[in-house]
Amino acid sequence: MTVGVLGSGTVGQDVLNLIERRKPIFEDVGVKIEIAGVMVRDVNKKRNVPAGTRVTTDCDFLQECGVVIETIGGVDRPLDILRPYLRSDRPVITANKAMLAERWDELREYALDGKLYYEASVMAGTPVIGPMSTVLRASTFNKLQAVLNGTCNYILTQMEGGQDYAAALAGAQALGYAEDPPTLDVGGFDTAHKLAVLARFCADGNFPYSAVQVTGIENVTLADVQDASRNGEKIKLVAELERAGTGWKATVAPQRLPADHPLCTAGATRNALVYEGDECGTLIFAGGGAGGMITASAMVGDLLDYLLGFPGHVPLH
Ligand SMILES: NC(=O)c1ccc[n+]([C@@H]2O[C@H](COP(=O)([O-])OP(=O)(O)OC[C@H]3O[C@@H](n4cnc5c(N)ncnc54)[C@H](OP(=O)(O)O)[C@@H]3O)[C@@H](O)[C@H]2O)c1
Repeated sequence: MTVGVLGSGTVGQDVLNLIERRKPIFEDVGVKIEIAGVMVRDVNKKRNVPAGTRVTTDCDFLQECGVVIETIGGVDRPLDILRPYLRSDRPVITANKAMLAERWDELREYALDGKLYYEASVMAGTPVIGPMSTVLRASTFNKLQAVLNGTCNYILTQMEGGQDYAAALAGAQALGYAEDPPTLDVGGFDTAHKLAVLARFCADGNFPYSAVQVTGIENVTLADVQDASRNGEKIKLVAELERAGTGWKATVAPQRLPADHPLCTAGATRNALVYEGDECGTLIFAGGGAGGMITASAMVGDLLDYLLGFPGHVPLH
């Protein structure tokens, strides 16, 4: 199986290393993996990838690939590269929630066809899309609440320790958790991307990203966090999806929650999701939501699923 990889940053490097480490498992299922090429911007950058990996700025190798793993990020940039490849009916594995959320009009037909694998796009290596796209469909979905952005979680946790918003944000940036500018994270848009992706499995397969109402954490003050704390509560950036009349309401906004709520007890660096269905009851998913290797674990898991003949993540239809 000839595999192409787009991008070799935090996630891409660990995808390549994990594929190398798992070669015996692939051989157990009768497949020899070959990496056809790895597309990057700067070939001179030092990278931690298996010896002999072909790193290039050219995407010609896509022509010879049976499957492509996209780890470039962004919205139009990866799609422009992938478009001709996707049209040839071959599968893509991606962790790119921004592209999935914002270009669903174009990507949905490939997802319906089982050609898109994207477990890592929400909660990285903590599996939620897998169960939502399979077994949970037997149950009537009512509501979900989730903490899906580690940067906001870190900032709000630092504020619980007495830092004001600006100092907590600066600390997150110094540790490399928050981008500069940090709008995608603190503005709630990254969380909204992930909520739109999830909504397509449990509410409406066509759920548009534009339908998510988004408020970020920029206006949360230290006084707000301290007032919540005095009342036994914590402030979290919560993604919420629930029934509203005959449709669905999707919001991302800071919320005060009891300190013993599962979204508060999951931990400062972890993501969490509470899923409520009639028959399945209340389910809680929690685990790491960012980081190279944990994200790679879901992407290489998707690769194994593909090789075993499982379809990608098919939205409601
Ligand atoms: N990091 C995480 O914890 C995490 C978790 C879940 C999902 N994700 C998703 O995974 C994806 C990748 O994230 P990341 O953190 O690995 O990003 P990253 O560290 O910034 O890596 C991006 C890679 O893409 C390459 N690239 C960027 N623009 C390119 C272009 N125009 N042409 C060719 N190559 C290009 C870069 O090349 P150079 O190396 O030459 O600069 C780099 O290797 C994103 O969609 C992100 O949302 C990340």
